[in-house]
Amino acid sequence: MNNFLEHVPVLLDEILENLKKYKITNGVIIDATFGLGGYSSAILENTNCDVYGFDRDPEVLKYANKLKEKYKNRFKFFQKKFSEIDDILSEPNHAKKKIRAMIFDLGVSNLQLTKKNRGFSFKLDGPLDMRMSKDGIKAFEVINNYSAEMLSNIFYNFGDEVFSRRIARNIVKLRGITPITSTLELADIIRKSIPGKNKKIDKATKSFQAIRMFINDEITELNKGLIASEKFLTYGGILCVVSFHSKEDRIVKNFLNECQGKSKLVISKFLPPKENLRKSFEIITKKPVLPSDDEIKINHKARSAKLRIAKRTKFSPIFKHEAAA
Ligand SMILES: C[S@@+](CC[C@H](N)C(=O)[O-])C[C@H]1O[C@@H](n2cnc3c(N)ncnc32)[C@H](O)[C@@H]1O
Repeated sequence: MNNFLEHVPVLLDEILENLKKYKITNGVIIDATFGLGGYSSAILENTNCDVYGFDRDPEVLKYANKLKEKYKNRFKFFQKKFSEIDDILSEPNHAKKKIRAMIFDLGVSNLQLTKKNRGFSFKLDGPLDMRMSKDGIKAFEVINNYSAEMLSNIFYNFGDEVFSRRIARNIVKLRGITPITSTLELADIIRKSIPGKNKKIDKATKSFQAIRMFINDEITELNKGLIASEKFLTYGGILCVVSFHSKEDRIVKNFLNECQGKSKLVISKFLPPKENLRKSFEIITKKPVLPSDDEIKINHKARSAKLRIAKRTKFSPIFKHEAAA
């Protein structure tokens, strides 16, 4: 299977190298963001592990089916979200499996980005949709119904957009004349709301990212996915997370620090922060792994990727997990 033309997997060599280095040679690997199956197929080819692919997007089913045909007994696919991984892995037929690695490659795939009818891209003319799972509220409803204050909060909180208020005000003004229906229309309003010349990145980038994150509840999803990794990875198993912007990377970093037992509570300025010795993860990448210049040359989209890896220890999880029913 080669879908590389449609989506080039980012930092794949580094992930495979670490699977080898940490002796992840059997058991199950969770590919939590199956996409076009770039990671899953490389793992199936290069290890003896079974792979469980997860993706919330129904459009990836055709890629998953191809892989199922090729690796009948070694590959399973679940059209589910990160927040549902816990339920699936708690089912009796999966509960006995050894989960040896969990991999997250966050954000959207090229499949989603380059299809204009999905509404993710500010460069292609499409409807205001942006739903990864194809259910729930669309971007159209948010852009045309939410108050200026709510919109501004979304742009600021999820996109770090400093011109959030101006953008929100202009959206509300213009939708009062006629509803905003297309990605290009919205991108134009955003660009015109931001003063100054076009910088290296398109002025619509941050706001589009913010709406997408809000619509798909990406922060909650990521947190639940990370917490599931702490619960299900076996001793010595590894967690690999590839993120593409600082918001996501910060969540991963903070989660791992927390699991590493670094309490933010400084009891007295004379004492170091309290350390929990029963840490659930040991951080392998003190600094995130970045793509090589060669990879960026071949795949420009890899330029902002950051990979963090941590190894599960033998201690019980730090985060509370609801008991299975
Ligand atoms: C960057 S792509 C992954 C590409 C994949 N590694 C490959 O090589 O083809 C991210 C994928 O994760 C999926 N995704 C994002 N958030 C998700 C979530 N909360 N639950 C399940 N899938 C999610 C998206 O639908 C998308 O297909």
